[in-house]
Amino acid sequence: MKLHTLLIGLVAVGVLTSCSKKPEPKVTPVPAPVQPAAPVLQPRTGEPVQPVTAQAVKDAAMVELGKKLFFDPRLSKSGFISCNSCHNLSMGGSDNLKSSIGHKWHQGPINSPTVLNSSMNLAQFWDGRAKDLKEQAGGPISNPGEMSFTHELAVGMLQSIPGYVEEFKKVFKSETIDIDQVTSAIAAFEETLVTPNAKFDKWLQGDDNALTKEELAGYELFKSSGCTACHNGVALGGNSFQKMGAVEPYKSKNPAVGRFAVTKDNADRFKFKVPTLRNVELTYPYFHDGAAPTLSKAVEIMGQIQLGKTFTPEENANIVAFLKTLTGDQPKFELPQLPPSSDTTPAPQPFGK
Ligand code: HEC
Ligand code: HEC
Repeated sequence: MKLHTLLIGLVAVGVLTSCSKKPEPKVTPVPAPVQPAAPVLQPRTGEPVQPVTAQAVKDAAMVELGKKLFFDPRLSKSGFISCNSCHNLSMGGSDNLKSSIGHKWHQGPINSPTVLNSSMNLAQFWDGRAKDLKEQAGGPISNPGEMSFTHELAVGMLQSIPGYVEEFKKVFKSETIDIDQVTSAIAAFEETLVTPNAKFDKWLQGDDNALTKEELAGYELFKSSGCTACHNGVALGGNSFQKMGAVEPYKSKNPAVGRFAVTKDNADRFKFKVPTLRNVELTYPYFHDGAAPTLSKAVEIMGQIQLGKTFTPEENANIVAFLKTLTGDQPKFELPQLPPSSDTTPAPQPFGK
């Protein structure tokens, strides 16, 4: 009897399984792991540094045009140098050279600062001689040592390219292109080059696990040593002019005199715009003369000449580790496709006069 029942049972199982089209493996339901409720992050207050917020795009068509101009080497006499040559957006918005190389391999006088987050600067250039990004953008195009063009030639070149004529018309509702439109569009693009979501910003927003012990120790030391007297705010810089060599003179072969060049006030001699420390890991070499090849060297010099402090190797490493947490999301976009030149577009002059 027992065997009989067993057989019936087996047949029944067989029948059941052969009837159902898709045999479902029998699984014992496992209770879903209980997800801990996401902790409500409490943003830190009272810190001398604040997080970067992503930039809302105001006029997408103008930004797109500005991006094209930023990448267009035809804005230079050589037809070879674009804004991106010296502010390479694949390299933290700088060129990673001691000083930039311009028209006809001309060695530039000064290190190229990053264009990332430059909209936060109180003024543009190391000495602040341009009041904003729009005013700044006209500079390099006509600078003989940079793009070596003139504004008239640049506008004429753009006017000869039907693709640009159409796009400027769409953006500026005007029949003719002028330099004001060119610099407005470039500035609009540059305003979008902000870098949110750095590890340090996550910590500022309340994520206790965002920083390692060393990085946090570096930040504490950065504050307690007095670095934040000059490197503070959202950009950790960009908001004041300060003497390079506040405690001990800085020795440089570079002839730049800093803010004095603009104000002619002796008190401004050797004052430079405090550079942002956002993405500083990417923007080596450091200082206006590009004399510090590494972050560790820059921190050592800053400690000595700005604060009269000598850091131990461990302290230096911690500060460097902290500085590396300031690298945010780099700009992400499609490479712009530039409208082709026309038969009337003047030929580039990479060599010759
Ligand atoms: C040949 C290299 C070169 C080219 C090309 C160039 N730049 Fe620069 N840029 C520099 C250098 C060097 C500086 C710093 C000059 C100074 O402070 O005296 C600078 C400064 C700047 C600054 C100021 C940043 C700050 O923190 O003060 C911005 C913004 C900028 N450039 C944007 C542009 C744009 C836009 C273009 C294209 C129209 C452009 N650059 C073309 C080398 C270049
Ligand atoms: C008195 C103001 C002041 C203090 C304090 C100060 N800095 Fe600076 N920092 C500057 C100025 C100004 C520059 C640019 C100087 C130049 O290139 O001529 C600079 C440049 C830097 C740079 C190079 C950035 C670049 O892109 O070239 C780093 C890194 C830096 N500082 C880190 C620090 C650290 C770390 C401390 C604390 C140990 C500190 N700074 C303290 C004013 C200050």
